[in-house]
Amino acid sequence: MLRRTVVTSLAASAAAPAFGDTYPSRPISLVVPFAAGGPTDLMARIVGEHMARELGQQFVIDNATGAAGTIAVGKVARAVPDGYTISIGHLGTHVANGSIYRNLSYDLLTDLVPVARLPSNPMLIVTANAMPTHTLKELVGYLKANPDRISGGTAGMGSGSHLGALAFFGATGAKYQLVPYRGTGPAVQDLIANQIQVMVDQSSNSLPHVRAGKIRAYAVTARARSAAMPDIATAAEAGYPMEVAIWHGLWAPKGTPTEIVAKLNGAAIATLQDPAIRARMEDLGQDLPTPAEMAPAAFGDFHRAEFAKWKKILGDAAVKVE
Ligand code: MLT
Repeated sequence: MLRRTVVTSLAASAAAPAFGDTYPSRPISLVVPFAAGGPTDLMARIVGEHMARELGQQFVIDNATGAAGTIAVGKVARAVPDGYTISIGHLGTHVANGSIYRNLSYDLLTDLVPVARLPSNPMLIVTANAMPTHTLKELVGYLKANPDRISGGTAGMGSGSHLGALAFFGATGAKYQLVPYRGTGPAVQDLIANQIQVMVDQSSNSLPHVRAGKIRAYAVTARARSAAMPDIATAAEAGYPMEVAIWHGLWAPKGTPTEIVAKLNGAAIATLQDPAIRARMEDLGQDLPTPAEMAPAAFGDFHRAEFAKWKKILGDAAVKVE
């Protein structure tokens, strides 16, 4: 009996659990680059809550704001690569910032490893209800007639709302003053209060306020109208073709064991396969990636391609900040 037990235990110890087998054994920190209440924070809370159930461990949301998300991403890039500190971000924080900020303390393509691609938000062109405009053409005309008098919210240089503003300026020739916030959650509250007058904002952030009649929507920055908001025309329908969507993702510090990345990826895929979560995200106008697109290798290829694409777009843009 003893021998068999010993053999069993030896066998067991010989097949000692790989590092990933015991993971996660304590709460996981999900570092969010923007303030609570915005689209990235919402994505983190929806995804984190369900991944926690999948993995049987709590996800702790850490809103590490400032510098358009570069503080949060740096925090994860320097974290111990043990799977307990992961980064959520998007086109702005994990791509555009690499072209806009010259002295980043990390390399977005080599100091982080891709974990899973997450949903993408089209953007809405929205204003305060107090604005005397109701169509995109009227809004463009009003902005051109009132240069430097209209303020618009962003989440800082390189944020999604900043990229949306640049795309709007390029498509319409109109401009507005860019007012940076720690996230577009706080920014949209100021839009509701007419402290600022215009935003190009992710659908998940603005659509609930549009539906509640608290702000006015003019167009969606997508090739086609969204099933979630069929009455909102595309910017192209108004004569201003512009397509910009803010895709999101999860990353971990370089050196995170592949079996841990695989566990996190599996939990993320299971999360986006949950019918209730899919319905909630699609109702916010979000486009969900397929499991194949969410795979770490596929997401890494996508990330690198986006990085190269936006480096060209932003390369000669006058938005370089030190
Ligand atoms: C942005 O890029 O504008 C951010 O996603 C805003 C936010 O998430 O608060």
